[in-house]
Amino acid sequence: MEKFVIEGGHRISGSVSISGAKNSALPILAATLLSDEPSVIKNVPNLRDITTMIKILRTFGLRVLSGNGTIRVEPRGYNQCIAPYKLVSTMRASICVLGPLLAKKGFAQVSLPGGCVIGPRPIDLHIKGIKALGANVSIGGGYVYARAKRLHGNKVYLGGAFGSSVLATANVMMAATLARGTTIIENAACEPEVVDLADFLVKMGAKIKGQKTHVIEIQGVKRLSGAEHTVIPDRIETGTFMVAAVMTNGDIEIKGAIPDHVGAVVDKLVEAGARISIKNDRIKVCGRNRLKPINVTTLPYPGFPTDMQAQLMAAMCVTAGISIITEKVYPERFIHISELNRMGAQIMLEGSSAIVNGIPRLSGAPVMASDLRASAALVLAGLVARGTTEVHRIYHIDRGYEMIAEKLHSLGAQIRREKED
Ligand code: EPZ
Repeated sequence: MEKFVIEGGHRISGSVSISGAKNSALPILAATLLSDEPSVIKNVPNLRDITTMIKILRTFGLRVLSGNGTIRVEPRGYNQCIAPYKLVSTMRASICVLGPLLAKKGFAQVSLPGGCVIGPRPIDLHIKGIKALGANVSIGGGYVYARAKRLHGNKVYLGGAFGSSVLATANVMMAATLARGTTIIENAACEPEVVDLADFLVKMGAKIKGQKTHVIEIQGVKRLSGAEHTVIPDRIETGTFMVAAVMTNGDIEIKGAIPDHVGAVVDKLVEAGARISIKNDRIKVCGRNRLKPINVTTLPYPGFPTDMQAQLMAAMCVTAGISIITEKVYPERFIHISELNRMGAQIMLEGSSAIVNGIPRLSGAPVMASDLRASAALVLAGLVARGTTEVHRIYHIDRGYEMIAEKLHSLGAQIRREKED
């Protein structure tokens, strides 16, 4: 196992390029299952979750070639439709093979993903969606089994207790591309990753309308072809670097981003006192000496993203006042609080709100990464802490940030990767 060792107190400056979005690339790779023809996906980040998805596709019998950020998938003749527990348990996003397998092969057996440290991860909306398209679904032995000779279009409302669902929308949209007739998804997620997936499906020949809205219409077609697609830049990586610059009173230029995708993050960081300017795909971010406290509520897109909540909390630890951060997407996603408090932060949890009493400086400590975004928050905290911070179990961060240590180091942060003793 490896850890990050961070010497805090160094401003970051310079420019950094953003990698492709993991959460776009994963469902797009799953969508290649819908065709018999090869697809080529570009700008795919080199991450553990992507490697897991490649393993899953190979388990089904697909040929997958990858290198230099490009993945070529050759699905012709694949005949396995079982996504095993061993792989699904390491990455809950594996559930997005359910819709494509079912639509293309008439059968899918996918291990139930279960909960995780960010809270329960139910799949009731995924199941509701494919049932509405005519699938026969049963659950047994920890697996979901779905069968349908040919799916048929229908109207389905995909809202849960916490709003729309990104991957349920993706699953049902993918399944509907090959269904007979028209499907309308109401309360669909409109995250940029859903739009990117829809754009890929359209290149494959799918007929989709409304993918930037909460009502998506899919007219089923008989077959889809292969396609070539470039994955959008990662808006969460973009936001994480923005927070890094703001926290360290730094001055960086982020290249290759889509500024429209980080509107809520820009808005909140400006409220906290950052100076941000945008030109085409470049975002210039300058911090300030002591940030102002702010109140934030996470919401589905275009609201403030839950995947940026932990990182923003790290920044709020060192403001001059009290911030309240309310989590409305995953109300239990607060595992990072105890570790930030080990670094001297003053954070109290009240239901699904964190009350953060800003202090002048955190102090370096050994801390434990628990999930992807919580780990990113600990790295950010380490950048501004007095002394040395050791972030253990960084395999979590390797699931979703491509070369984060190298990128931060190139901006002047003192961070290195070491083997655990
Ligand atoms: C996607 O997960 C992302 N993962 C998550 O990113 C992200 O946090 C989440 O969307 C919200 O933006 C990928 O895209 C691979 P949801 P997803 O279904 O689709 C509830 C990261 O750090 N819900 O939109 O699984 C659910 O419990 C990861 O990169 C149901 O109730 O999330 C949550 O409260 C972590 N029933 C809310 O909906 C369901 O059937 C939104 O979750 C499905 C979800």
